[in-house]
Amino acid sequence: MIKQEVIDKIIDAARIEEVVGDFVDLKKRGTSLIGLCPFHNEKTPSFNVSVSKGIYKCFGCGAGGDSVRFVMEHEKYSYPEALKYLAQKYHIEVEESERTPEQLIAQNKRESLFIVTNWAGKFFKETLWDTEEGRAIGLNYFKERGYREDIIQKFELGYSPEAWTALYTKARAEGYNDEFLEATGLVIRKDDGSVYDRFRGRVMFPIHNLTGRILGFGGRTLKTDKKTPKYVNSPESEVYHKSDVLYGLYFAKKPILDADNCYLVEGYADVLSMHQAGVENVVASSGTSLTSGQIRLIARYTKNVTILYDGDEAGIKASLRGTDMLLEEGLNVKVLLFPDGNDPDSYVQRFGSAAFKNYIAEHQRDFIFYKTQVLLRDAGNDPVKRAAVIHDVVDSIALIPDAIKASVFVRECSTLLDIEERILIAELNKIRISQARKADRKPEPLATPADTSGPSPKMAPIGEPEMGASSDVLQEREIIRILLHYGDKLAAWEVDSDIPIAPLLLSGLSDLSFDDPVCLAVINIYKDYIAHNELPEERVFVGHADRRIADLAVDLLATKYSLSPNWNDEKRKIYVSHESERLEDLVYGAIYRIKKRKVEQQIYRIREELKIETDSANMELMLANYQKLKDISKLIADKLGTIVIK
Ligand code: UTP
Ligand code: MN
Repeated sequence: MIKQEVIDKIIDAARIEEVVGDFVDLKKRGTSLIGLCPFHNEKTPSFNVSVSKGIYKCFGCGAGGDSVRFVMEHEKYSYPEALKYLAQKYHIEVEESERTPEQLIAQNKRESLFIVTNWAGKFFKETLWDTEEGRAIGLNYFKERGYREDIIQKFELGYSPEAWTALYTKARAEGYNDEFLEATGLVIRKDDGSVYDRFRGRVMFPIHNLTGRILGFGGRTLKTDKKTPKYVNSPESEVYHKSDVLYGLYFAKKPILDADNCYLVEGYADVLSMHQAGVENVVASSGTSLTSGQIRLIARYTKNVTILYDGDEAGIKASLRGTDMLLEEGLNVKVLLFPDGNDPDSYVQRFGSAAFKNYIAEHQRDFIFYKTQVLLRDAGNDPVKRAAVIHDVVDSIALIPDAIKASVFVRECSTLLDIEERILIAELNKIRISQARKADRKPEPLATPADTSGPSPKMAPIGEPEMGASSDVLQEREIIRILLHYGDKLAAWEVDSDIPIAPLLLSGLSDLSFDDPVCLAVINIYKDYIAHNELPEERVFVGHADRRIADLAVDLLATKYSLSPNWNDEKRKIYVSHESERLEDLVYGAIYRIKKRKVEQQIYRIREELKIETDSANMELMLANYQKLKDISKLIADKLGTIVIK
């Protein structure tokens, strides 16, 4: 936990234009800054930064928030990660609170492990470039494999000397202690108590975390004898959790976002060669099967994954396994095999980058079709085997959470399998229903082609009205908009003219309830502050932990025009220039308009109830009530009539 006062300090220091400006080229336009949105592709800028409000808002894709939110979205950081990033940018020391002594020790230990591995990274790198052995053996090896110097530098490749304690001796001389050297696995302790280096005479591939710090290493032997393991790897440690790491992701983050696609390969060598060929949206699973942690890591950046594998039998089988999890996470999976036992690395090195790019562009296939083909080829004409293939393929399709996407696959596979679509759908629905039963939820069966009715498979989430919401919600939002924009301005027209608009507005609305939960939450925050004779600042909402509140605040702060549904765009534009000069009308207009709406609703409700009421005493009461509401409604209409602009 970062201390609240430190969080406040960071948020105060973080200037939105500077934070965004590190990633987006901003130009001044009027009172705000404008640039090309980094969250969607666009050619004309619709990405606005308001320096005074401390927010950004894209009118193209709707992205918006404060500095912290920007860093979270842009760098795919968690909230604390984003705060730490900003702290670093503004040289603010992050003090963490509420840590037990044990946690502090663990934190310090993790930090020490990081320091040791990063020191070792430097040691291997310097050995590669600055020692005779390193250059003659390590650097020479990389160059013979065709890697350019800039790529070797970029990935911070290194070399470990062919000696038992080269790293250990140097580390001790520089004051690093045994505990951390052992815990990172850089040295190994024998039973007799002596220690030796884990990596000896190997070329070194450092493995980076998302912020570029080194977590561990893979060391490749240069020997060809079968007895030496090809790779020696750092063991798991408190900083290196292999199941949550993908090799190359640090370098691939931005390219993956840009391409909206991630290539998944097996080895370090493949990642390097592809970068060298100019294909940078690539990560490696490092030879092991994918974990769900790794998949979620990819899914933070893109929903589209293309698996690149060796074209040999093992590669094919490997590509069939391991993909189920990708499908389950809702990713779009494509597969690509290289011919004649090539892997991406050997293909690039042999045929060059142009041929490589061509090949991957032309040979990607949707995983399901690929699987169908491979299995069918194996099954030949054997009807039993073919039936098994159908089941196998349908099993995979059933993992796809998006029903529409699944139905497309069903259609195309029915052609490949030469079987009626209807039969595949029946098969698929059987699986879905049994899955649903297991998970104790409602199944979402696919409609057969003839049956186009029925509910659409994707329903909008309930309780989260969007901007195109009903006029009720719009009126509630208009109140919030006025609060956010003018809540702290003084109601100069009142007798008691030093009362700010926020308490005035809220007291005018005290007798009615807000239906929209997010608007209600904002109102309640205002009430809390007002009860303490204070007013909340914009950042209370813009940086709110509940994203719905933050989103609403950003939307409304970025909205210049009134949300009143009665106005067309032209009126809004004319109005806005006067808005701040006519705050009295604005405030009372909003109060009366929302009251009118709520009263009209009550009138409607009573009318409906009257239709079914049979008890005459009740009816009388209701009619009296009805009349009273009608009077109020008239009164409100009169008041509204005196307000210049409706
Ligand atoms: P590869 O054998 O394809 O390695 O294993 P590579 O990186 O392409 O190496 P080159 O081309 O022969 O130089 C794929 C990945 O599996 C892991 C490594 O992460 C490797 O990059 N691996 C492989 C190991 O961890 N240990 C091994 O002994 C072999
Ligand atoms: Mn290889």
